Amino acid sequence: LPKVPLCVCGRQLGVLDLCGCSCRRGLKVTVVGAAGGIGQPLSLLLKANPDIDVLSVHDLRHTAGVAADLSHICTKSVVKAFEGPKKLKAAMKGADIVVVPAGLPRKPGMARSDLIGVNASVAADVAIAASDVCPGALLAYITNPINTIVPLAAAILKRKGTFDPNRLFGVTTLDCVRAKTFLGDAMNVNPQSVELPVIGGHTGTTILPIISQCKPEFKGEEMERLALVDRIQEAGTEVVKAKAGLGSATLSMAYAANQFVCSLIKAILGKSEEDVVEYAYVESDVTKVDFFATRIKLGPQGVMDNCGLPEMDEYEAAAMKCCLVELKKDIELGYKLSDDFK
Ligand code: LMR
Repeated sequence: LPKVPLCVCGRQLGVLDLCGCSCRRGLKVTVVGAAGGIGQPLSLLLKANPDIDVLSVHDLRHTAGVAADLSHICTKSVVKAFEGPKKLKAAMKGADIVVVPAGLPRKPGMARSDLIGVNASVAADVAIAASDVCPGALLAYITNPINTIVPLAAAILKRKGTFDPNRLFGVTTLDCVRAKTFLGDAMNVNPQSVELPVIGGHTGTTILPIISQCKPEFKGEEMERLALVDRIQEAGTEVVKAKAGLGSATLSMAYAANQFVCSLIKAILGKSEEDVVEYAYVESDVTKVDFFATRIKLGPQGVMDNCGLPEMDEYEAAAMKCCLVELKKDIELGYKLSDDFK
């Protein structure tokens, strides 16, 4: 007979059952937007993670099929499917991590900011549900425009009395992944061996790759460096154009988001002997604006330490000033729009 899992409170659990008590039988990750272009490959990568006990997949539709498919994969996590707005809270209940790829993607000619009208309400619904059913969860938004969505969510959580700046993240990992790839190609080295800070926000000139601090050192001409900065900043648009109306980055975004969630898991479980470090867009007082992506050390409660700004050369310091002007506007818009969700 299969062993009946026990909750730490002692209650016997059915195979697909979660105990309703405040303790848990294991680590629960919820993907909101799990049937979408990012959500499906992200859920697949998470299903392969041996540290996850419950993988909860939510979307407006089609999650039953996604969950049935994932559930045949021979890893220990139990996959649970939830569909429709009314099931959002059930999907998120007791989650340790909620990752949110939900929302509309761009079409050619659109800026990320053009998505705010639709995506603001998606992000707000998640923040409201998190306040009610998993206020202690680490909440990671992929939904665009991240620069505005994260402050909007923060304002809602603040009003609900559940905001913890250490637990709310805008996922900017793809900017780091792209920077490593493009610099690796340019220097003809394995991209995995490339390290450089990518700070700021997640659109256009708010994405600041700090190439002066790249390891190994980038020794190319100034023109080449400027072209690399431009490519990293416009990489999302490169994919949108290449997909010609069929959306934006999904596979590379899923890869990056999985890397970020895996780091959150490592930090929660405290198993890693090394510091768990990622770049993410978080509330901080590192700059004059309220939200800014920097290198952060992660611990069981989320952000453990914000490593602050890297060293920058003159060109990067000037670019940083422009970035702050843009970010300030994006953040204020998020605060303003949060009033629509009172
Ligand atoms: C990306 O960077 O690829 C995503 O933010 C999607 C987009 O619209 O560019």
